[in-house]
Amino acid sequence: MKILVTGGAGFIGSHIVDALLAEGHSVAVLDDLSSGCRENLPASVPLHVGDIVDPAAVAAAFDTEKPDAVCHQAAQMSVSRSVREPLFDAKVNCIGLINVLDAAVRHRCRRFVFASSGGVLYGDVTVPAPETTPANPVSPYGITKWVGERYLGFYAAEHGMTAVALRYSNVYGPRQNPHGEAGVVAIFSKKLLAGEPSTINGDGRYVRDYVYGPDVAAANLAALTRDSPRLSAGSLTSLNIGTGVGTDVNELEAVIRHEVDAVRSTRGKTPSPAPRHGPPRPGDLRSNLVDASLAETVLGWKPSVGLGDGIAKTVGWFAAGLS
Ligand SMILES: NC(=O)c1ccc[n+]([C@@H]2O[C@H](COP(=O)([O-])OP(=O)(O)OC[C@H]3O[C@@H](n4cnc5c(N)ncnc54)[C@H](O)[C@@H]3O)[C@@H](O)[C@H]2O)c1
Repeated sequence: MKILVTGGAGFIGSHIVDALLAEGHSVAVLDDLSSGCRENLPASVPLHVGDIVDPAAVAAAFDTEKPDAVCHQAAQMSVSRSVREPLFDAKVNCIGLINVLDAAVRHRCRRFVFASSGGVLYGDVTVPAPETTPANPVSPYGITKWVGERYLGFYAAEHGMTAVALRYSNVYGPRQNPHGEAGVVAIFSKKLLAGEPSTINGDGRYVRDYVYGPDVAAANLAALTRDSPRLSAGSLTSLNIGTGVGTDVNELEAVIRHEVDAVRSTRGKTPSPAPRHGPPRPGDLRSNLVDASLAETVLGWKPSVGLGDGIAKTVGWFAAGLS
């Protein structure tokens, strides 16, 4: 199958590209490289550098590649930028999505998989939230992910596509950008490897559901390629992708510091410093977890990498980049 991955040069997108190639699929990428980079992709993968907000750039990629299916990862994904610039957020996450959906319809793509977010849809939840939890997005980013799912449902019904929205929890792993606001694992890994302390917001008792990037890629692979009686042409299926396991930021920092110190000791360096606590970040949810049991029923997917292993692999990747 030929699959076009938008945002495929980014963190999650590039792991999806790897997973698709490993299964023998043909892959092409459309990405404006605003946060992704060419180095994340194998040289053999065609990269169309273009903005999804520009219908001509989207049409050019589809006309060249003629994909059978689309995996839509490209997005404006900063919550704080969405608050400062809601118009920009809506352009990329709504207009950009509609451009990609229109092109998918013109090319009769059979399947469309969309990167949604459990974190921003469900709000503060202390037990893993199922997909039936009422959506309560409180930021423009959360609103555009929710609206994106509604558009996807409409296009699926109107044009007979099979549509899947994967609602990720907090994704981490190799290739995550340590300069963004979302990648706490990447940010702490980079700081600690440099011998600097992590800064934990407030008391650090903010619980999140951390899922490993290549596991999220495996969920996308299944959503793009698997036949399931629960996935049908003309309808949207929304599925949570996470572990259901909560970890607070203090615990997370300790796990990362443990792995970093193992690396530092092999390099003859002193243990990294203890964390500092900064002011709390306004609006941060206390707890957010997703229940991914429906993804197991529909896609046969469940996470395979636990937090300890995933953090070890992630720290190892950042450390290799510094060696
Ligand atoms: N990382 C997480 O924890 C998380 C959680 C929930 C949902 N998501 C969603 O997963 C998707 C991938 O996120 P990621 O963490 O890999 O981020 P990322 O920034 O690494 O990837 C996004 C990619 O999209 C590209 N892009 C951005 N705007 C574009 C545009 N206008 N036109 C073309 N390409 C554009 C970027 O260059 C980048 O390569 C996003 O849709 C994001 O909203 C991520």
